[in-house]
Amino acid sequence: MFQARTSDTPRDKATLYSDLALDLTGLLTDERDAIANAANLSALLFTTLPDLNWAGFYFMRNAAKGNLGGTRELVLGPFQGKPACVRIAVGRGVCGTAVERRQSVLVEDVHAFPGHIACDAASRSELVVPLMLDGQVLGVIDLDSPNPARFDAEDQAGVEALAALFVAGSDWPL
Ligand code: SME
Repeated sequence: MFQARTSDTPRDKATLYSDLALDLTGLLTDERDAIANAANLSALLFTTLPDLNWAGFYFMRNAAKGNLGGTRELVLGPFQGKPACVRIAVGRGVCGTAVERRQSVLVEDVHAFPGHIACDAASRSELVVPLMLDGQVLGVIDLDSPNPARFDAEDQAGVEALAALFVAGSDWPL
């Protein structure tokens, strides 16, 4: 039975992310279904990382319209938080920008990010990490916080490490 390394003792970020990596490794041990693993990882992130109002996934899927040319876009996956916008085109918002750049995007002030998509008006800062497999973007992990500048380079490195574990421990394509 999975047991998270939750504790009331405050942990520094390095400890927090190494504990999260151990917890995620435990969750991935007997399961490779990407949706199930994404659901559990979003719950793990939301209940472990302080000061979040949204934690979840968008996956690259066929676009709702005009898919004759094989257009792909981000479609909402498992998450914790308020209901969110379902489809995001590549290049749009923070999530679509991370896909286009194939790099994490750390936004200290969402109001200063041109094209930010406000799913929850409470969000003030955001971290989006792409899910990469063999040079392809599978989707993104998106974290939102009601606090300005909630995320730093240590959060980015920690979530990138979790994203790599999640991709390696799950079956693709969806
Ligand atoms: N803010 C994101 C949209 C997704 S929600 O935050 C859950 C964006 O600008 O892409």
